[in-house]
Amino acid sequence: MCGIFGCATSGSKAAEIIHGALKRLEYRGYDSVGEATIFEGKIYIKKDQGKIDDVHSLLNLDDLPGSLGIGHTRWATHGAPSKINAHPHTDCGEKIAVVHNGIIDNFDELKAELENLGHTFKSKTDTEVIPHLIEENLRHGLPFIEAVKEALKRLDGSYALAIISTLEPDKIICARKESPLIIGIGEEAMYCASDIPALLPLTNKIISLDDGEVAVIWSRGYEIRRLNDWAIVAREPEIITWTVEMAEKQGYPHFMLKEIHEQPLALRNTLRLQDLYLDLIATFLDRAKNVFLVACGSSYNACLAASYMFSKLACISAYPVVASEFIEQFGSAVNIDSAVLAVSQSGETADTLMSVDYARNRAATILGLTNVVGSTLTRVSRVYILQQSGPEIGVAATKTFTAQLLVLAQIALRVAKLRGKLSSQEIKGLEKELKSIPDIVEKTIKMNVEKASQIAKKYRDSRFFVFVGRGINTATALEGRLKLLEIAYVPSLAFPAGESKHGPISLIEPGVPVIFICPRDKTRKAIIGNIMEMKARGASIISVIEEGDEEIKRLSDDYFEVGRTVSEIFSPIVFIIPLQLFAYYMAVEKGLDPDKPRNLAKSVTVK
Ligand code: F6R
Repeated sequence: MCGIFGCATSGSKAAEIIHGALKRLEYRGYDSVGEATIFEGKIYIKKDQGKIDDVHSLLNLDDLPGSLGIGHTRWATHGAPSKINAHPHTDCGEKIAVVHNGIIDNFDELKAELENLGHTFKSKTDTEVIPHLIEENLRHGLPFIEAVKEALKRLDGSYALAIISTLEPDKIICARKESPLIIGIGEEAMYCASDIPALLPLTNKIISLDDGEVAVIWSRGYEIRRLNDWAIVAREPEIITWTVEMAEKQGYPHFMLKEIHEQPLALRNTLRLQDLYLDLIATFLDRAKNVFLVACGSSYNACLAASYMFSKLACISAYPVVASEFIEQFGSAVNIDSAVLAVSQSGETADTLMSVDYARNRAATILGLTNVVGSTLTRVSRVYILQQSGPEIGVAATKTFTAQLLVLAQIALRVAKLRGKLSSQEIKGLEKELKSIPDIVEKTIKMNVEKASQIAKKYRDSRFFVFVGRGINTATALEGRLKLLEIAYVPSLAFPAGESKHGPISLIEPGVPVIFICPRDKTRKAIIGNIMEMKARGASIISVIEEGDEEIKRLSDDYFEVGRTVSEIFSPIVFIIPLQLFAYYMAVEKGLDPDKPRNLAKSVTVK
């Protein structure tokens, strides 16, 4: 998740405006920053790795000439944070500069094609193919805007783009596919930006671009067209009444709610990870004699779910281990034949890093899954994957948890392929379903916002909750419980339903709410039996069911419905959604700030 901005003014100094806007977008990414302006037929660029203030004190970002320019604040996806990889990126002739938020899926093949045609690449980014593609089209005699249009048609993946060129020095071309992009209409100036906070002090008049739209802006006007047929789009501007703080949360009252809603996008991004790294991790896991999945908190819950995925798909026993216990529990069993897959959103969790350090010293292979570029975990891993969820500001993990699950599912599938454990038809079916998960999650969020708020109102004074699941959804129960207790401070218990009669059922008395995770899989019959047991003792049954599951609906006092998933492997990604929302609304009902639960920090860097 990066932030882009562009402004075309009629005489004001663009660089200062861009700098101010990037500061307001810094929450979208902060590993590098850059600006490009046009002045007297030349492109001027300043960029470097680091936070905006640090780069500014080194380079003076305001010191670029010209009244039109673009800027970027980066959250690295392809290519480590560095000066060369920082945006804007240019073509060979430095006539075109581009800033980009998103991921170009087919950049490898485009880059190879362009290199064969004589283009020289400076960076390791996917973005750099864009200015070179445009340059190539110019070489074939296309006018600039046409050259951009044809280049856009070659891009697979997601993008919000702002493009400038000395060939059309008064214009910025903006384009959107899946990544957000808005146009701002000012007095004697036009802007484009990833997000509303960038625009607020400049204008409150905005137009949101839709997927597949291209806008050309100049200081006194704009034109929006559809990329596929170049038809003009007429759209009325909206007037925004948000404050900057509200805008950072995109109008949501809390970051947690915003991040819950960002899950479809975050999940789509995890379907665009580079095959090379997924395959490498799968290869190391396949070769290892023993596999440990090491993490804390929500990341541990993701690992627990992943252990079912690895077993069911690839017939591997992968041990999920709470990082603070890893050395005591499995330390002596770790050796050169072990692979440790460490999962950490922040990449900085002390217990996880301590386990990794220990395992490294015993010659184990360290593999990492994290959300933060340049984090310690990326430096100590033999191979790592960046899950591409963008910054998560709410303390409770939401979008990063579901993204971890989707990455882990992809890895498990690849190990299964390597080991020949699934037929090609099964693999095809699972891959198809994988791609549908972001849409199912999107639908599930819509289905549950109102419902979660209502159910939270009803149960706001309950002093104790129980979460129960079976199979892979034991992990969902644990994660639902963690969300509720950490942000709404409600003591809760979660366990595999089969454990009920071995102790916890003694806590059930009339009115205790018990939340059951009920997918339509092999566990269903047994879960219905567990519901009956709890009902017989007077528990209030809240079920999470697949849409249309009338039988369990009838057994429940309240229920959440989720979109249908075919395979149980992916079900936690969908079933956790109502529980995230429920925890959120329980915190709100109790007047608590879900973004900042007491005693907790986003990144636990002490043991
Ligand atoms: C719960 C939560 C924490 C983290 C845990 C590990 O909502 O956010 O339990 O999951 O502190 O953090 P990372 O994944 O950064 O290692």
